[in-house]
Amino acid sequence: MAFGVTCSGAAQVVKAVRAVYNKTLIVKLSPNVTDIAQIACACEDEGADAVSLINTLLGMAVDIERRKPQLSIRTGGLSGPTVKPVALRMVYDVAHAVKVPVIGLGGISSAADAIEFLMCGATAIQIGTANFVDPTVTIKVIAGLNSWLDAHGCQSVHEIIGALEV
Ligand SMILES: Cc1cc2nc3c(=O)[nH]c(=O)nc-3n(C[C@H](O)[C@H](O)[C@H](O)COP(=O)(O)O)c2cc1C
Repeated sequence: MAFGVTCSGAAQVVKAVRAVYNKTLIVKLSPNVTDIAQIACACEDEGADAVSLINTLLGMAVDIERRKPQLSIRTGGLSGPTVKPVALRMVYDVAHAVKVPVIGLGGISSAADAIEFLMCGATAIQIGTANFVDPTVTIKVIAGLNSWLDAHGCQSVHEIIGALEV
């Protein structure tokens, strides 16, 4: 059930969870919406401690010889490098709309990708699909991030969070 695609649906779920759960509540957001910042605000208003975005974009693939969808359930989640520009835009929008921390993900497979998300306002990042390509990717991204920060004279990762100049 896609309860995260309307402000009222997302708010109702966060409210219900918040009422029975007092530990850290991170709400994962769907990108399959018109205005993800509004959804994030609704979650924040109901007590989310942080938001994480993006989940997969709804996609489709077609087998032209069989004239059928390649996926048995017709549609599926699109992830990996191809979704990164969409994810960056959404993380940027949400980071400028809420006060709670924003965890960014969507197509991250290198330290440079992670830095892009941090500069757009994410205070942490996650990696999904790239783990299927290289199970050690997270370790490489952490090492690469540290190297980049050292090479650019940064004492802390906080110096690049939200540091995008527009
Ligand atoms: C095989 C697969 C399974 C996934 N399962 C879930 C899931 O159960 N819950 C969820 O919130 N996101 C799930 N996702 C979405 C990822 O957590 C992530 O939000 C999305 O793929 C974008 O990040 P990425 O490009 O780094 O994979 C899944 C993604 C993939 C590829």
